[in-house]
Amino acid sequence: MVYNVGVLISGSGSNLNAIIRSGINVKFVVSNNHNAGGLCIAKKANIPVYSWESLSKLESEVSKLILKYNTDLLILAGFMRLLSSNFIQSMPKLSIINIHPSLLPAFKGANAIEQALKYGVKYTGVTIHYVDEGMDSGLIIDQATIKIEESETIISLQKRLQKIEHKLYPSTIKRIIDSRK
Ligand code: GRF
Repeated sequence: MVYNVGVLISGSGSNLNAIIRSGINVKFVVSNNHNAGGLCIAKKANIPVYSWESLSKLESEVSKLILKYNTDLLILAGFMRLLSSNFIQSMPKLSIINIHPSLLPAFKGANAIEQALKYGVKYTGVTIHYVDEGMDSGLIIDQATIKIEESETIISLQKRLQKIEHKLYPSTIKRIIDSRK
């Protein structure tokens, strides 16, 4: 059985790129931001792209795309909007996955990297979780930890975390796909 995924993005799409390069079957990419860099990455890979700024329009169109492309999982890769309860409830359980740059449940929401640095934690990391109706509150699938260096800046920490994300996200998605085959 071939597993198809759809990916939602808002920005540069470096995780999308890692997912595509890993060979996961990405059938469509949707953004809420017409200028998201990740749209170019998808186009170069010949993956259909769509963008809608309105969340309600985006959700109703994504529901149609899921049927059209027969996708099994919806992957959020730097998608910066909170999906509505209606949309989440309309989807099968455990079918939407997100990646977040902190060790959840610490530092939810935007600016997670900045929040961790400001708080002064010595370790932070990356969390991959299923999406529920809350903000970064769904069931945790996997996590990876790194030690925060003395000289760490938001930029340096973001780079180190993204390096981890680009390995952990594709491998975790593949593991989920394999376990459902
Ligand atoms: C990632 O760091 C992810 O953890 C967060 O948003 C960022 C997206 O980066 N949810 P990119 O668009 O994949 O480069």
